[in-house]
Amino acid sequence: MHYPIKVIIGLFAATLCLSGHVGGVQAEAPEKSKTTTTPPPGGVPGGTVARAATADVQHGKTLFKENCEACHQEEGRGKPGFAPSLTNPELLTAASDRFLTATIREGRAPTPMPPFGEILKASDIQDIIGYLRSYSQASVIGDQLDASPPGMGDPHLGKRLFAQICAGCHGPNGEGYESSGSGTAIGKPGFLSKASAGFIRYIILHGRSNTPMRGFSGPGGLANLTNEEVDGLVAYLRSLRN
Ligand code: HEC
Ligand code: HEC
Repeated sequence: MHYPIKVIIGLFAATLCLSGHVGGVQAEAPEKSKTTTTPPPGGVPGGTVARAATADVQHGKTLFKENCEACHQEEGRGKPGFAPSLTNPELLTAASDRFLTATIREGRAPTPMPPFGEILKASDIQDIIGYLRSYSQASVIGDQLDASPPGMGDPHLGKRLFAQICAGCHGPNGEGYESSGSGTAIGKPGFLSKASAGFIRYIILHGRSNTPMRGFSGPGGLANLTNEEVDGLVAYLRSLRN
């Protein structure tokens, strides 16, 4: 609990960012969130939005219904312990097109998330992503998060914290639903080969609205973790990659 102010500013900035205000407020938010997410300098949000805007959203919706809805539910709402929500603002803010495309193309062996690389064309996957992105007006900071440095966290500290506060939902080794928790398989290569340190850090801090994953920062969090603790968790998870 050494940096509550920073964490609160980060959360506040993210709230502003997610509320989709235009003008000065929105331009300011990613600047401030640097204190917690440390994206690289010079990044302007919006690049990913512009790419997704070229997608055929209606076509994406049809493809989503045909290929994804049985698991991810209507409007991509998800079902804890079965398939995650794909339309909550935190995922859509933090996930780069690269992360979403790779996840859809390759799936997440050994979880039930199947690979669609042989079934859907690249443009189909872009259309689905465009459809999912239509649920959030917030700026996408996924590219900045992916480019942010991994940090120098202590994996041993992270391992201890994981056992105490994450394993109950994500499984003792992050095996996900298989261990009958509500959380996804964040200790498995299917997730870790695609998720950047910046993405993982953002989700730990901000959580996922309308799912059991609440953020771990600020007074409203499941626990108010320090930067050192969050970096430790990121380092521990990344050590499980292979
Ligand atoms: C058979 C069920 C099933 C189907 C069909 C399915 N998914 Fe998934 N999907 C899952 C599960 C389960 C996970 C979480 C796996 C884990 O534990 O990491 C997941 C994870 C994801 C993620 C990562 C979300 C996150 O929180 O990081 C994305 C993106 C995704 N799926 C997109 C899709 C899309 C798009 C389609 C259709 C083209 C699709 N899925 C079809 C079961 C499914
Ligand atoms: C109360 C249960 C719960 C706890 C405790 C919990 N999580 Fe989660 N977490 C979830 C759920 C559920 C999701 C997926 C959200 C969804 O279903 O849409 C998730 C998603 C995530 C994701 C994104 C994974 C993906 O597939 O994209 C990360 C990273 C994560 N959690 C890290 C952690 C860490 C680290 C901790 C401990 C500090 C933790 N979680 C504690 C339930 C939990």
